[in-house]
Amino acid sequence: MSAISQPSARELFAPLNPPQRYLFGPGPTMVDPRVYQALSKPIVGHLDPYFIDMMQDVQELLKTAFGFKSGSTLVISGTGSAGMEASVANFVEPGAKFAVFANGYFSDRLTEMARRNGANVVRFEKAWGETFSDAEASDFIRREKPAVVGYVHAETSTGALQEGQAICAAAHDAGALVIADCVTSLGGLPVEFDRTAIDIAYSCTQKGLSCPPGLSPMALSPRAMDWLRARTTSPRSWYLDLKLIHDYSTVSHRYHHTAPISMFYALREALLVIAEEGIENRWERHRRFHRFFVREIEAMGLHMHVPASHRIPTLNTVLVPSGVDDGKVRKRLLEGPGIEIAGGFGPLAGKVFRIGVMGPLATEENLKFFLAEFKKALKAEGYSI
Ligand SMILES: Cc1ncc(COP(=O)(O)O)c(C=O)c1O
Repeated sequence: MSAISQPSARELFAPLNPPQRYLFGPGPTMVDPRVYQALSKPIVGHLDPYFIDMMQDVQELLKTAFGFKSGSTLVISGTGSAGMEASVANFVEPGAKFAVFANGYFSDRLTEMARRNGANVVRFEKAWGETFSDAEASDFIRREKPAVVGYVHAETSTGALQEGQAICAAAHDAGALVIADCVTSLGGLPVEFDRTAIDIAYSCTQKGLSCPPGLSPMALSPRAMDWLRARTTSPRSWYLDLKLIHDYSTVSHRYHHTAPISMFYALREALLVIAEEGIENRWERHRRFHRFFVREIEAMGLHMHVPASHRIPTLNTVLVPSGVDDGKVRKRLLEGPGIEIAGGFGPLAGKVFRIGVMGPLATEENLKFFLAEFKKALKAEGYSI
């Protein structure tokens, strides 16, 4: 009996050949070739002295990006949401009052995580795109007297930047810790962890740091570390227990989990690329091309969603002109020149384009290319400029 020949896996599955995209969305963003090279280096063990030293380099390099001198930096093996979950699991104890500044999708996620963790969540809600004034922030905290406060520094769903100084000052007066979501800000604009007096900040690798997704850098103030050491109950999450992760990463280096070695290589290289440019120069470059972008967008007769004083320089929310289907514009850009931008969601669905201009894309040449293609796609969808 002759065996029926089965197609081989090679015949069934095409070779991996991802399309070349221009990632002008909110993230992931473009990755420097040096970071791709770092990803392909041979791996070592997660307890190898080489890896331990390298992890410490990463922790050191992160301090500049966070604007941070004392306290601890850590890297969670997981995306930005893992940093969010770690912050909530470790610092928002079941039954504790958690006050959230809610003005977008990611403050809702923070709320949901805290609720699942058994916290008593109180929210100060605003429309997506609005921010909280200093007086509003301190009144809310004075009134609620929470144990922990949470806010999103750069709200990716809306393009709004929330300053944290008044929040942190009022929280500390009330004896509360502050968790800041810096997922979209780190590496792209100043986080100013120390100056703002944040206690716990988490971020990601795939936005302002121009690295693939996969890790969540965190910064913890001395106050947060003291609080953590004094906590007598265990957080519900074992994997995200920051005492254990801190011990593995910076104290005993005893096994906690098998760290994703290649992603740490990538993050180290991405941080070196940033350090070589100079973080302040990078922030200034982002600000300069943000201004350029806004000027050109307004010259096209388009409008920004967020007032100028509260815009995230690396993530622009541009209002979709009436009569234009944003999904069709985005499809044209992706299928034509291979440009990815994002649309709005939740209350902003169909109302905004979310356009990231960060890292290697923040140059005049790249922006001119983008703007010309964006103009073409809008015209093709009926917008007259
Ligand atoms: C502000 C903010 N917080 C949290 C997250 C979650 O990060 P991740 O998708 O890496 O899990 C994101 C992702 O875009 C974000 O923009």
